[in-house]
Amino acid sequence: MNNSEDFTTVKHKRGKKFKTPRLKTVTTPSRKVDDECDESELLIKTENLKRKQLISRDIFKESKFFKEVCGMVKTIEYLPITSCDYDLVVFGLGNFSSSLIAKQQLDLALALRSELNISHGQTLCYDPVFTSVEIKTLQDLEWVVPEINQEGKGRSEKTCIYYLPHCHKILYNNLLWANWSKELLSKIVIIGNSFSSMVERTPKRLLEKNGNYILKIEPYTTELPLPDTYSEKDVFNDTSIHTFPVERLQSLPTVYWEENTEPIYSNEETEFIRDSSHLW
Ligand SMILES: C[S@@+](CC[C@H](N)C(=O)[O-])C[C@H]1O[C@@H](n2cnc3c(N)ncnc32)[C@H](O)[C@@H]1O
Repeated sequence: MNNSEDFTTVKHKRGKKFKTPRLKTVTTPSRKVDDECDESELLIKTENLKRKQLISRDIFKESKFFKEVCGMVKTIEYLPITSCDYDLVVFGLGNFSSSLIAKQQLDLALALRSELNISHGQTLCYDPVFTSVEIKTLQDLEWVVPEINQEGKGRSEKTCIYYLPHCHKILYNNLLWANWSKELLSKIVIIGNSFSSMVERTPKRLLEKNGNYILKIEPYTTELPLPDTYSEKDVFNDTSIHTFPVERLQSLPTVYWEENTEPIYSNEETEFIRDSSHLW
């Protein structure tokens, strides 16, 4: 598997697949800075970024924190560790060429891919704010970088680890909606903001508006907080590994799964970047 065709984008109700936007709107990603680079500058900047990121990944791999996280992931029963036949999808990483937090979060994704022997073609990374240098760096590191904004509504054919570091709850909600069945949820792992904290801290009325699927699944989720042993406290804080054991999901009535309307959000949510094809 080596291109984004292998990852499904869940269709809108009206039946159309998301398309690459033709119009530029307020939702269009800003890639201004790097888009001004010429080809040779792009190559030099990419080489530098790639080299630094690989050095940083190798140091990260030796950390106590990473060893602990890796141990936790390896205990997940439904990950076919022996065959390694699963996908790794990252949404909402941010600008790892300029943000130290995003850079260290990418260290975790790169280290996990390497440690779990996930085949390179099975790893996808998307954030609408990526610059051209970041996109090329990820591609050189053999990540699939889709051109379309799936809004987090990804669905993988296989078992999949989704990693959404510090993302807006809409992205988690969309991901849950796109995988809203016993069969699909019990094949995915979500590493991201703690669902139990979201439910605890967000007024129910608000969560019903932009995180209803989080609210619905949280009581049936197994959540393991990432260890508190990382040196920087604002990189992996409030982050948990969420799994959806089939035994728990089986206890739910069929109607629970049938209530699966595609979520609609108000335009007030500025941290969530929409696919601009919604607007025309
Ligand atoms: C709160 S920031 C987190 C950035 C970084 N991971 C961190 O912890 O600092 C949320 C990220 O989600 C990204 N984002 C927003 N809408 C998105 C979408 N539709 N698909 C993927 N990422 C999205 C934003 O561009 C931003 O980088």
